[in-house]
Parts: sequence; C-alpha cells; structure tokens
Amino acid sequence: MGTLARGERGGKALTCYQALGMARAKVLGVVMKILFVCLGNICRSPSAEGVFRGLAPDVDTDSAGTAGWHVGKPPYGPMQDAALARGYDFSDLRARQFSAVDFERFDLIIGMDAENIANIEVLRPVGNKTEVRLFTDYAPGSGKSEVPDPYYTRDFDGALDLIEACARGLKATL
Ligand code: 4NP
Repeated sequence: MGTLARGERGGKALTCYQALGMARAKVLGVVMKILFVCLGNICRSPSAEGVFRGLAPDVDTDSAGTAGWHVGKPPYGPMQDAALARGYDFSDLRARQFSAVDFERFDLIIGMDAENIANIEVLRPVGNKTEVRLFTDYAPGSGKSEVPDPYYTRDFDGALDLIEACARGLKATL
C-alpha cells in the first residue's frame, strides 16, 4: 500500500479518497481502500476480503483481527476449504492485528460484529473521522446484525452465504 495523500476538511486529516469525494476520486483513478476486521483474522475477515476482492478488483482490500493470536497465519483450513468449493482462493492472506494506524490508511473499515466495532473504536485516534460500519449493514435483507463466527458455529457455508450477500451490497454502494 502506498503512502497517504492527505487533504483537509473541517481541519481533520483525510485520506486522498475522502478528500476528493468518491466521484472525483474514481475519475482521477484514486483507489479506494477498504479494511475488513474480525476477531482472529483467520475466518470471517479474510473470507470477506477474498469474496469482495473478486467482486471489486479495483478496490485496495486488506483484513485484520482485533486480537493478535493468529498473526502471520493463513486463513483457517476449514474456512478455506468451504470457500475454495465456491471458487474463492485466499490462501495468500496472512493474519495481522488491527491497529490505530489503520484509521489513517483506509477509507472504510468494516467489522463483522458489534464486538469488533467496539474494539476498533477504542483505538480511534482523536479527531479521526474514518467511516466504520458493520458488514451486515450492506445486506439489510438478510435480517442479520452480525456475521456469526464460524470458528465457533462451524457453519462455514452459512457464513459464506452471508458474506457473499454483504459483499454484493457493499459493491453496489461504490
Ligand atoms: P474470526 O474467528 O474472528 O472470524 O477469525 C475466530 C478465529 C479464531 C479464534 C476466534 C475467532 N480464536 O479464538 O482463536
């Protein structure tokens, strides 16, 4: 990921994408940066990244976990197996921990559940205005308010169904 170009709006530092606005940024070829966040960064957020990057290859994507337990590890095997069966290969991804600098690197940060959002928000730098949203906000028809964690539920296909719906909804907003 390149260095940040910054603008100013209301005295706050903005990423280049935010400063330009979506329409002008697209015309100028500025790439939007989206970060997907879950707890361990081995099930839901790498799946979200893997699904979304297939839908929107022009967006710069990344994922992270609020916990650091699995830093450096590839996505969880059973999660990868379920995703591969649908044609998503994200074996290249490696877990990393979310940190405060991510607020300045990304235009949009997307959490998988309310606990993720709370753990993201405690690290928000003073004055930072980066948008943080729940992934399920982009799939209102699903009736879900979080992506259930398949590490615990073992429902990897159910998680992927919801992640696909959220990813399609997110893509439709860009
Ligand atoms: P994720 O799932 O947040 O979707 O990556 C988890 C993976 C591992 C653990 C918890 C959640 N863990 O406790 O190791």
